[in-house]
Amino acid sequence: MTLDIVSLIGGKEASGGAVYDSINPSSVDEVVARVRLADAETFSSACRTAAAAQRDWAQVPAPVRGRVIASIGRLVEANAEALARLVTREIGKPYAEALGEVREIVDTCDFFLGEGRRLYGQTVPSEMPDKSLFTFRVPVGVAAVITAGNFPVAVPSWYLVPALLCGNAVVWKPAEYAAASAHALYRLFAAAGLPEGVLSLVLADGEATHAGLEAALGEGTVHKVGFTGSSAVGRKIGELCGRHLQSPCLELGGKNPMVVMPDADLDLAVEGALFAGFGTAGQRCTSLGTVIVHESVHDEFVARYTRAVAGATIGDPAGEVLCGPLLDHKFAERYEEYLGWIEPHHTVVSGPTGRITADNPRSGFDGAGGLYYHPVVVDGVRAGDRLFMEETFGPIVGVTAFGTLEEAIELADLPGYGLSSSIYTTDPKAAFRFRAGVGAGMVSVNNSTSGAEAHLPFGGNGKSGNGSRQSGMWVLDQFTRWQAMNWDYSGRLQKAQMDVAEIVPDLAYRI
Ligand code: UN1
Repeated sequence: MTLDIVSLIGGKEASGGAVYDSINPSSVDEVVARVRLADAETFSSACRTAAAAQRDWAQVPAPVRGRVIASIGRLVEANAEALARLVTREIGKPYAEALGEVREIVDTCDFFLGEGRRLYGQTVPSEMPDKSLFTFRVPVGVAAVITAGNFPVAVPSWYLVPALLCGNAVVWKPAEYAAASAHALYRLFAAAGLPEGVLSLVLADGEATHAGLEAALGEGTVHKVGFTGSSAVGRKIGELCGRHLQSPCLELGGKNPMVVMPDADLDLAVEGALFAGFGTAGQRCTSLGTVIVHESVHDEFVARYTRAVAGATIGDPAGEVLCGPLLDHKFAERYEEYLGWIEPHHTVVSGPTGRITADNPRSGFDGAGGLYYHPVVVDGVRAGDRLFMEETFGPIVGVTAFGTLEEAIELADLPGYGLSSSIYTTDPKAAFRFRAGVGAGMVSVNNSTSGAEAHLPFGGNGKSGNGSRQSGMWVLDQFTRWQAMNWDYSGRLQKAQMDVAEIVPDLAYRI
């Protein structure tokens, strides 16, 4: 069954233009949704609608907004299997992972429904008597949220849920190739009783979105941009927002390192590297980029990793597989380019590369009809190789060796990203030294680079982002601004720094 979907602005269907087919990557001839794409003007008009709706939404008491978030969580929970099945069908994420992704929305709602009763401000002592100081969190206004499709529902919820809870209106532009999943999530949010216009869904391509966003920023109807996607597009959005004196929340790519120390539990490290490298077919922003393994255990690690990769199940994501297809044609094409970065001094230890077909088979699997690719492990990558330096979204992992922990940390940071990282060791000193030395926003010890929990700060540095953080209480600083208030009830003008009582110490005093 093919869905016909269009943008939803102020609760109503907007007219659409060009048609985009969102396909099932496990069976590329199947169209999951026929999407009528919006133009730039539709995007900016959604922002105007949001700006008008936001004023009343901000007046709704935060605990009541928290109840709406609670309802969203319950609705998502009650629809978990159906939503996960749609995610699997539209982007090929293995069903167990898709269910985990849906769970992440529920976790996010569970966290923020309580925040509706906190959203604390402070009372602060004044320098002067009969004067009180306070701080308040105020919503920023309208958030334009632009998200990728590898986490088509969980990552958007990291923006949508706190933004709405804090009293903002949101215009959400999901990835076209995940439009059906986004449309389903939008409907669950709407069913929770959000007033019309507080959340709009704009289905548009990148060009129209950029132009629409530029217009909206110029009109003053967007006050915060949240973006999850590539570092290249993140740069453009950062530039655009900078011209309007705004700092966006950017969650970008990664080249996430995993360091394996000589004292590591190697089987545990292999298990972590298998999931981090090939879960979601290596298309998480937290996916493993390079295993940096100590020279004394390098050969043994590579042998065990190769065996594990050979034994992994790849296939229909509705079944119990480690790895399904790539997200969409665009990602498959780009992934094939990355395979071209394999150089003569590299050793592909995992066997065949490229698309799995009858002519390029993987034992026990026939990939006909889907965007399935062989998982690839490349040993012998060196600092400076393209494969070492750049994100390779897809099922490919590099391996390199190191001598000292300092060297490993240097290698981990060299590509200039800074999202996630991991170390396998049984030595607490090494774990803490790695934590302190590495530039990543997230550090795992004896755990995969993927799999962040919904209530810790999520975000990166360098090419992975601008230091903004999502999730947990930290994201509140993205969707609220601090307002300071001072209230003088002395009945006279008390001047700060000047009319302050002085207690004179005897600083010459010695015991
Ligand atoms: C992403 O790929 O954009 O930690 C987010 C993880 C997931 C989120 C990934 N919970 O891998």
